[in-house]
Amino acid sequence: MVYQAFFRSVFAGMDPETAHERAFAAIRASGPVTRRVIKTPSTPRSVMGVQFPHAFGLAAGFDKNARAVPGLLALGFGHVEVGTVTARAQPGNPRPRLVRLVEDQAVVNRMGFNNDGAAVVASRLHRLRGTRRGRDAVIGVNIGKTKAVPPEDAVADYVESARLLAPFASYLVVNVSSPNTPGLRDLQAVDELRPLLTAVKQVSDGPGGGPRVPLVVKIAPDLADDDVDTVADLALELGLDGISATNTTIERPDSLRSDRSVVDAAGPGGLSGPVLRERALEVLIRLRARTGGEVALIGVGGVTTPDDVRDRMAAGADLVQAYTGFIYGGPGWPARMARAAG
Ligand code: FNR
Repeated sequence: MVYQAFFRSVFAGMDPETAHERAFAAIRASGPVTRRVIKTPSTPRSVMGVQFPHAFGLAAGFDKNARAVPGLLALGFGHVEVGTVTARAQPGNPRPRLVRLVEDQAVVNRMGFNNDGAAVVASRLHRLRGTRRGRDAVIGVNIGKTKAVPPEDAVADYVESARLLAPFASYLVVNVSSPNTPGLRDLQAVDELRPLLTAVKQVSDGPGGGPRVPLVVKIAPDLADDDVDTVADLALELGLDGISATNTTIERPDSLRSDRSVVDAAGPGGLSGPVLRERALEVLIRLRARTGGEVALIGVGGVTTPDDVRDRMAAGADLVQAYTGFIYGGPGWPARMARAAG
């Protein structure tokens, strides 16, 4: 309630990306000085061979460059998925590229993988892993394709990111589902996806004595049901550790409450928030049925309330993540969500 009033009076009038930067700076600054991690009654769980303090974590895109992990964990997230990181640093799309649909508690983003690049993020994670707080933190690292790299070199580009980042990742995510890099989602087609995941897995399997890092693929809610099944089958065939479902949608569903003119004015990009809930849950249920528990499932998309967390877990999610709910819910929100995941 206090946050809602604060949001209305301060953040609502601000450009959304500026609001994000302010909030991010505060969380980042709080990390090193937070004495005690916010108490969340939690049941540790082993997923993909990794010990998670509880099932609820922050989805990719909030901390693209791994700069605020301790502060985010202190708010109650059990894990943080950093990224998307690309092999080369890139600026992303021109602003404005983040738009709120307040009536739907949703956002449209076309950030376009603005990030510092794999080498810089790897050295940041290396430093973080050398600290007491960073050593045991559960940090997923989400990787994507550098925009300037042509499709025929996509595999090499992901492999380079994997090589640099896997040593510091609790798990690695191959993102083939963000809508803001031209051609990226085409990599979800099995003929593209098989060689890509095979090559990244050769890195994450830790040849040459390095530790094995669990490998996850993150998919879009806009895949047809048959294609969801195909990805599930491929994950089983290749021995992947997990599937993350879902990323943002390029659809603008009729169920949106915001006026059409507001939705149209938001422009292109990925839509997230409660409007995604139904389809993301449907994809999760489909994946659970197809994989029979052989592959870990990360339920993400429209998770906003503690009941959403419970619903995803009841539907077969081993882990649950969210992003947009955090924008509207504020700093007390992660701990409330974590209590449902304990
Ligand atoms: C995202 N998301 C995202 N996902 C990803 O794999 N890599 C990324 O870089 C980003 N970036 C990003 C930026 C912004 C501003 C948003 C809102 C979202 C998608 C995110 O991780 C998640 O899959 C979706 O947003 C659906 O979950 P929520 O937001 O409905 O909880």
